[in-house]
Amino acid sequence: MGTVAIIGAQWGDEGKGKIVDFLTEKCDYVVRFQGGCNAGHTVVVGDEKYVLHLIPSGILYKNKKCIIGNGVVLDPAALLKEIETLKDKGVEINENLYIAKNCHLIMPYHIVLEEEAEKRKKIGTTKRGIGPCYTDKIARAGIRVVDLLFPEILRSKIKANLELVNFVLENFYKTNTLDEENIFSQYMEYAEKLRKYIIDADIIINDAIDKGKNILFEGAQGTLLDIDHGTYPYVTSSNTVAGGICTGAGVSPKKINNILGVVKAYTTRVGEGPFPTELRDEVGVYLREKGGEYGATTGRPRRCGWLDLVAVKHSLRINGFTGIAITKLDVLDEFEKLKVCVGYKCGEEIFHDFPKEIEILKNCEPIYEELPGWKEKTKGIRDYDKLPKNAKEYLSFIEDFLKVKIQLISTGMKRDEIIVREFPL
Ligand code: IMP
Repeated sequence: MGTVAIIGAQWGDEGKGKIVDFLTEKCDYVVRFQGGCNAGHTVVVGDEKYVLHLIPSGILYKNKKCIIGNGVVLDPAALLKEIETLKDKGVEINENLYIAKNCHLIMPYHIVLEEEAEKRKKIGTTKRGIGPCYTDKIARAGIRVVDLLFPEILRSKIKANLELVNFVLENFYKTNTLDEENIFSQYMEYAEKLRKYIIDADIIINDAIDKGKNILFEGAQGTLLDIDHGTYPYVTSSNTVAGGICTGAGVSPKKINNILGVVKAYTTRVGEGPFPTELRDEVGVYLREKGGEYGATTGRPRRCGWLDLVAVKHSLRINGFTGIAITKLDVLDEFEKLKVCVGYKCGEEIFHDFPKEIEILKNCEPIYEELPGWKEKTKGIRDYDKLPKNAKEYLSFIEDFLKVKIQLISTGMKRDEIIVREFPL
């Protein structure tokens, strides 16, 4: 036991919410360390479906401590709405939620600036203000959660930021400016409601680790959306990889014991950007419908394609996965044949490693291995030996290619629809 990180190995939406929920039972703390309410983690408990955006998925269990770490960018309006929605469904939120003092706040102008920027250069973002908030953080102009506790500091920072923001809105984007007083009074209301959750998260997390508690670090988005290691500029603005835990939660690399990569049995992506194995035909449509591939946050249809092991190998290298979880295997149940990408061809050149050049990724042709399908129902199977022979071969192919153990196999949305080959913690 100890610490475990759950990291998306593709372009997000790998089904991390389900895996986090499954492992939370054995954990004491669940910590988010990057991203914000751009995430949409779907968890099904009994007949109830929950979509979590900012609050760690551990909140659905009683007596688990959930921490929003400093690397997260926090929209207080979105958080309060999420708290209310969960409370309406009977979820208890009280002394089980903590927010790091040094989290950066998403401000109304971040959302407006992003909407305007998207009109000019489309990244296909979730328009939650994530990028502009991280921009301010890096530019040392950000406003942090702790500032909510000091009204005069909060007011002066809003005033200083609005000077530039309003100039840009008026003169560059030619749109309406924002009012300082409105924002200030709105954020003071948020401060009152959120005050009780605000703490020194790094101290709490490190103390818990030192006391031998089990901690789960819940990644959002996926490795290929990482600001450094993803398909830049078609990425999110945070470090989604395991390394992000160290800075985004204040934890030493020495203290991360297990790193579980979550790999969907095929590939999806939302928003713009290269996607070598994308299927723009009826197979892609089939995967979208069978897999319910619509954004949990924005409702946008996801682009779908075959499993890309070149991309996953890149994720494995950057994250150092100690094991992987395969999700949504059951979505592939009806195929006669399956394709898996093992390389790319661009002109005369063959690539076995994920290229950094966006132009190569845009123009390359995937090199596929073809594997036989199993044409049998795997949904809900909990015993590895009960999987059809060809499903096991598909999984062995992935393991042999990546040289890492598949520890978990998810065979449906419900908590217990999972095969445990080796417990990742
Ligand atoms: P942003 O994170 O809203 O800035 O969006 C940047 C890119 O990341 C866009 O392509 C989004 O569709 C994608 N993205 C952000 N969050 C998620 C997620 O939770 N799942 C999948 N894609 C995401």
